Amino acid sequence: MAAPSRLLIRGGRVVNDDLSQVADVLVEDGAVRAIGRDLLPPGAAPAGLRVLDAAGKLVLPGGIDTHTHMQFPFMGSRSVDDFHQGTKVPAPPRPPLRSAPPPTPLPPPPVKEEMKILAQDKGVNSFKMFMAYKDLYMVRDEELYAAFSQCKEIGAIAQVHAENGDLIAEGAKKMLALGITGPEGHELCRPEAVEAEATLRAITIASAVNCPLYIVHVMSKSAAKVIADARRDGQVVYGEPIAASLGTDGTHYWHREWHHAAHHVMGPPLRPDPSTPHFLMNLLANGDLTTTGTDHCTFNTCQKALGKDDFTKIPNGVNGVEDRMSVIWEKGVHSGKMDENRFVAVTSTNAAKVFNLYPRKGRIAVGSDADIVIWDPKATRTISAKTHHQAVNFNIFEGMVCHGVPLVTISRGKVVYEAGVFSVSAGDGKFIPRKPFAEYVYKRIKQRDQTCTPTPVEREPYKGEVVTVKSTE
Ligand code: URP
Ligand code: ZN
Ligand code: ZN
Repeated sequence: MAAPSRLLIRGGRVVNDDLSQVADVLVEDGAVRAIGRDLLPPGAAPAGLRVLDAAGKLVLPGGIDTHTHMQFPFMGSRSVDDFHQGTKVPAPPRPPLRSAPPPTPLPPPPVKEEMKILAQDKGVNSFKMFMAYKDLYMVRDEELYAAFSQCKEIGAIAQVHAENGDLIAEGAKKMLALGITGPEGHELCRPEAVEAEATLRAITIASAVNCPLYIVHVMSKSAAKVIADARRDGQVVYGEPIAASLGTDGTHYWHREWHHAAHHVMGPPLRPDPSTPHFLMNLLANGDLTTTGTDHCTFNTCQKALGKDDFTKIPNGVNGVEDRMSVIWEKGVHSGKMDENRFVAVTSTNAAKVFNLYPRKGRIAVGSDADIVIWDPKATRTISAKTHHQAVNFNIFEGMVCHGVPLVTISRGKVVYEAGVFSVSAGDGKFIPRKPFAEYVYKRIKQRDQTCTPTPVEREPYKGEVVTVKSTE
């Protein structure tokens, strides 16, 4: 990366999750050093200071996409967007211990031990469990119980892909037997109830363990309602809708062109009920849902075509990273469902809090990393695969006109995008180790352990008769 620059972002409206103020922002050595009115006297032009005019624009904390799969080997293929092309920002975190070449031919440590090492020494404070993908990733209830217990022990947050894998496998057989081999079969074999049931089951198990839980890719009204109800019942659970579930719907699975339908295949699927995106956005606006990701996992048409005769073989995944902020601004803020502060909360701040990066990330404040976007809320752009910067040859938001356009993107004090031009090299990104026991999620958990642990009832021992049970052999 080039030498750290000094930047002054002048006159913009600085938006955090709790307030907005018109102010200048001074950036030095990758961090925010000062925020205030008129930091630079009129006419002054100190050497080595670059001034970015943000008058009439918003100055936002950089977005945090909570869920992506770059260069991910999956379903016989590998997702086409790598860390450089797919984000033009982060570098891959170090690979999991299990795939590191062992120094001796010793067997890898048990998973529980690996989780502990990752949390204590490697800066990993969340673990994702799959309830779907039978015979591949799927774990059963007792394994979830064990994994959640270990998460709690080491101060991690448990994440789940919530779908009933057994029901999906049976449903898929049924659809194929009916002669339904196209992408619509993907949704038909895993309707909303399959997602909602697993969501409730995961919440029930997490509650039994008193472990904080994070539900990735919330795709349906039914699953979102389960999460909202659980939060109202006091559970420590967070829901992550994604750009896809907030921006489009599952009617595409019935599209006449096979490739169009196949490019929307992901799990859990987009829902055919066209009111789903509005519903999820309303819950995101009012606090029932907490963060937003994308689950960005892209496959080109020729890769999707692995499932041309059988929908179960279509590699699962859709795009989102590049368009998440614009889709949420358009459908959330421009539509009037949420204000600019809630936008910052759901695209950045809440993720930083849940994953223990706050206030280094997720806030524009003195001392925070200078990850900043200068945002034009009035400008519009039309999303298209023809103009996007991703490797994938399809965009599920094709043709969507979005208000809200990033003008300048600053990563750790460096301008990485401006006026359509990227200034990044592969490897510029940085893995940020995260500490366990994030206060935002663990304060309540710890207090409950102290005050909500059941105790036995004090009684006199029973002294009466006890029936004799005869062996039935
Ligand atoms: O279809 C999806 N979601 N692909 C990525 C893997 C996953 O389940 O998150
Ligand atoms: Zn998943
Ligand atoms: Zn995923």
